[in-house]
Amino acid sequence: MDNNRVIIFDTTLRDGEQSPGASMNLEEKVKIALVLEEMGVDVIEAGFPIASNGDFEAVNAVARRVKTATIAGLARATKGDIERCHQAVRDAPRHRIHTFLSTSPLHMKYKLQMEPEAVLQKVKDSVSFARTLVDDVEWSAEDGSRTEHDFLCRCVEAAIDAGARTINIPDTVGYAVPDEYAALIAMLVNRVPNIDKAILSVHCHNDLGLAVANSLAAVAAGARQIECTVNGLGERAGNAAMEEIVMSLRTRPDRMPFTTGIKTEQITRASRLVSAVTGFVVQPNKAIVGKNAFAHESGIHQDGVLKCAQTYEIMTPESVGLTRSNLVMGKHSGRAAFRDKLKHLGYDLADSAVEDAFVRFKDLADRKKDIFDEDIVALIDEAVYRENDRIRFHGLEVLCGTRHNPPKAELDLEIDGVVRNVKATGDGPVDATFNAIKALVPHEARLLLYQVHAVTQGTDAQAEVTVRLEEDGKTVNGQGADTDTMVASARAYVNALNKLLVKRQKTAPAALTA
Ligand code: KIV
Ligand code: ZN
Repeated sequence: MDNNRVIIFDTTLRDGEQSPGASMNLEEKVKIALVLEEMGVDVIEAGFPIASNGDFEAVNAVARRVKTATIAGLARATKGDIERCHQAVRDAPRHRIHTFLSTSPLHMKYKLQMEPEAVLQKVKDSVSFARTLVDDVEWSAEDGSRTEHDFLCRCVEAAIDAGARTINIPDTVGYAVPDEYAALIAMLVNRVPNIDKAILSVHCHNDLGLAVANSLAAVAAGARQIECTVNGLGERAGNAAMEEIVMSLRTRPDRMPFTTGIKTEQITRASRLVSAVTGFVVQPNKAIVGKNAFAHESGIHQDGVLKCAQTYEIMTPESVGLTRSNLVMGKHSGRAAFRDKLKHLGYDLADSAVEDAFVRFKDLADRKKDIFDEDIVALIDEAVYRENDRIRFHGLEVLCGTRHNPPKAELDLEIDGVVRNVKATGDGPVDATFNAIKALVPHEARLLLYQVHAVTQGTDAQAEVTVRLEEDGKTVNGQGADTDTMVASARAYVNALNKLLVKRQKTAPAALTA
């Protein structure tokens, strides 16, 4: 392989899914994996198979569907974990076991309660065992960036001797700074005698906002695999954002002469899919995929861009899959224009999904004169990625205002195929609506967040509502959009409940780390 080619290892489905609230069901994971494969991701880490039966099934389903990318599963350094991981990934034409063990003094003393020599032995045993099952083994030194150098060199050398082809040095707690992290990678390149037999990989968390900078610095120092996630999803402050890494390399080859296999034009599509599935709204000013990333608000900037786009644009919107088309849609727009718009927005949907979305679009167009791109994105996220939901929103009527005391809600939900109706009251229209949902779907989940924002401008704008629920320490996010804020609220709550149902099916993961 070209020595300057960087392997993109996407862990959205594993580390990304570990973010509180970002649960995904099996079908959603498969859908995301197929999009990642199509965009050219080299390795897809599909999950942590030992964590639960649900995780195992999802990794296995991804392994059966994905044909070109390597499918990796995570395993702790035990036979049980490694065997389960192998069973989950082995149906993929290319598969990898990714096993890890902590190596920092802090983790060895408090978390593992093991002496360094015993840790070293476990590294050898776990990697050797994984190699009896597969050729492609990756070993990670958890908390690698805080590991004492001599000991890290010994562990890396031992893992390579035992057969690991990829050595990953995570900055598990997002503590490293770029020059320090690059020096760590350079130190391994210079000191580990068999380092040429493995690819060095980096895996950075974003606690100090340095995950992307650290990853790029490490590549300059010799790393050739970057572990990252779409939209920077991940534990705590997240992982390095794939779109930022890939576009940095594409935009600045003069400073970073490295390439990836990513078709960057598919970035927007992947970002929207991950956001819709997880319910994690991308912040408007997020680099590359935020709503404002290519928007020029000030007159001076707009004037400059009209004269010559490069005055204020270092990347073209097209290079990340955005369209410059400002075709506003309305009730007279037909199927062909709608299809064309979806294509421009980066969606590639099956005919039945386009048809469902078109029906929702027509319904929206009856209520809203101009339909902007943002409206269509909200509508697709709503309509298309919810096909496996057990609870479906059917209808809502709310009475509120000063003459209706207390506010009343009448709600229809379809639950496991049966439509049911209920009336409820509450302290306000939202409370009445949520009480109606609780009457039809009794649950103990606590509402942690209720947030509304307008998708576009104007009083006929769609409201996009986010609802966060918590049950037994597990949190989920739900989203809903509609021109009626109460309907959007009900849809968001129902979406969150569907995710809780998925979470409940998964057994509690055994003390997952990082
Ligand atoms: O952050 C981390 O250390 C990890 C490892 C398990 C690779 O996610
Ligand atoms: Zn991690």
